[in-house]
Formats: sequence, structure tokens, C-alpha cells
Amino acid sequence: MRVAYVQMEPRLLEVDRNLSRAERLIKDAAKEGAKLVVLPELFDTGYNFETRGEVEDVAMQIPDGQTTEFLVELARELEVFIVGGTAEKDEKGKLYNSAVIVGPIGLGYIGKYRKIHLFYREKLFFEPGNLGFRVFNIGIAKVGVMICFDWFFPESMRTLALKGAEVIAHPSNLVMPYAPRAMPIRALENRVYTITANRVGEERGLRFIGKSTIASPKAEVLAMGSESSEEVGVVEINLELARDKRLNELNDVFKDRRPEFYFV
Ligand code: ACM
Repeated sequence: MRVAYVQMEPRLLEVDRNLSRAERLIKDAAKEGAKLVVLPELFDTGYNFETRGEVEDVAMQIPDGQTTEFLVELARELEVFIVGGTAEKDEKGKLYNSAVIVGPIGLGYIGKYRKIHLFYREKLFFEPGNLGFRVFNIGIAKVGVMICFDWFFPESMRTLALKGAEVIAHPSNLVMPYAPRAMPIRALENRVYTITANRVGEERGLRFIGKSTIASPKAEVLAMGSESSEEVGVVEINLELARDKRLNELNDVFKDRRPEFYFV
């Protein structure tokens, strides 16, 4: 199975422009045979909002909003699964930093995740996620979804892996330098594949680090993006490796856990 990250540079508040940019890159990934394509966090709206009003103007309902409908249509046309980060406004007007997962014919909208660990000024605009960590069985793989800063909390990926995730889709807008180094270790700890789709560029003085990363259950970096270019990374993965939690005939990283000693 081939999987991809889309590394792109969204422009703040320019939704139509960002959707068409994403479309070109998703098509590039599909042409290279990717069946699961991951987009950055807030790929449709940009990130560095100044006011809540700005977010309200661009956030949409899920699934009845322009971004989800756009992704559903593209997934149908290209016969791919897509995970992408988007600003969500629920029916009561509450705002979430969310991600949607959509699939090809007959599937359409599959589900959403709302970011649980909000980073810095996101706390001024968004509600913390309230749906838990979710794993979506899309037939070709079990996909766990988390968003950017969630990676900093090992519990996020551990929870997804314990719930059966084989691949972690990780839409991101990274600004700190650590995740490209840390994600291969998270992948190793949980024996899963990780796809971090980061953005590039700068918004209002905030620079994003690029370096989108696909890591293997053996902590290998299978693909890494540049620091500043829009590009796609496509690699073949072997899910059997993610299903096997054994390190040798006596150690299994899940069965060997001792949760009775982990809580304080
Ligand atoms: C982040 O969570 N966007 C750093």
C-alpha cells in the first residue's frame, strides 16, 4: 500500500485558493499511486489567526461544509482516502481544530477528529477536542488520527495504537523543531507507521518548519520533506510490520506493558 504526505503552503484566510492548491498536490500524490493522502493541519484556512472573528469567518461545519465536500469529491474522483486538517464550526458556533477523513465511492465522509491538545494561541479560539482519539477502519488499513501538538503527549499515539491503529495520520503546522526527530521514535514505541504532513511558509512572522515525515515501525525515516518547498512524499508501506508487536520470541511491546505501574 502506498501512502503520501502533502506538504503545502496555505495562505491565511484564502480558502478557495488553498483548496485548489491542495487539489493539485493531492492529484500528484494519486498519480504516484498513493491510496492514503494526508494534508496539513488547517490546510484550508491557514493557521495564525489574530481574532476569533477571523476563524468564525472561515470555519465550516463537518460534513456539510465546503472543505469536506471538496475532499469527498476529490476522493471519489481519484479513488483515494484523504485525511486533512480543517477549521470546524459546529451547529452551536463552537470552533474546533479538526481533521476529516474521507474515502472513495460509497464511502464519502467517514469521520472527524477534534484536536485534543491545543497549542499556544489556538487556546484563544478553539475548544479542546471532545471526541477522543479515533481509529478509522478504512478496509485497507486502520488509521488513527491526531493533529500536530498531540504528538508531544506520548499518550495520544499510545491510545491510538492500543485501539488498533496501524497507521497514524498526523496533519501538522509544526513551528518547533522537535517532531521530525521524535516521530520515528513514537512509531517505534508503538510499532506503527506515522505520516506527518506539515506545512511550509510564514504567516504574520510565524515560520513553519516543513520536514513532513513518514516513519516506519522500525524508526526508519521513509520520506522527509524539505524545509520550505511544497511537495508530496509517497512511499510503500507494509502493514504486516505494524500488526506485529513482537521484538523477538520473548518480547511483545504491547503484551509486555505493565500499566499497573504507570500511573501516579
Ligand atoms: C501546533 O500544534 N500547530 C504546533
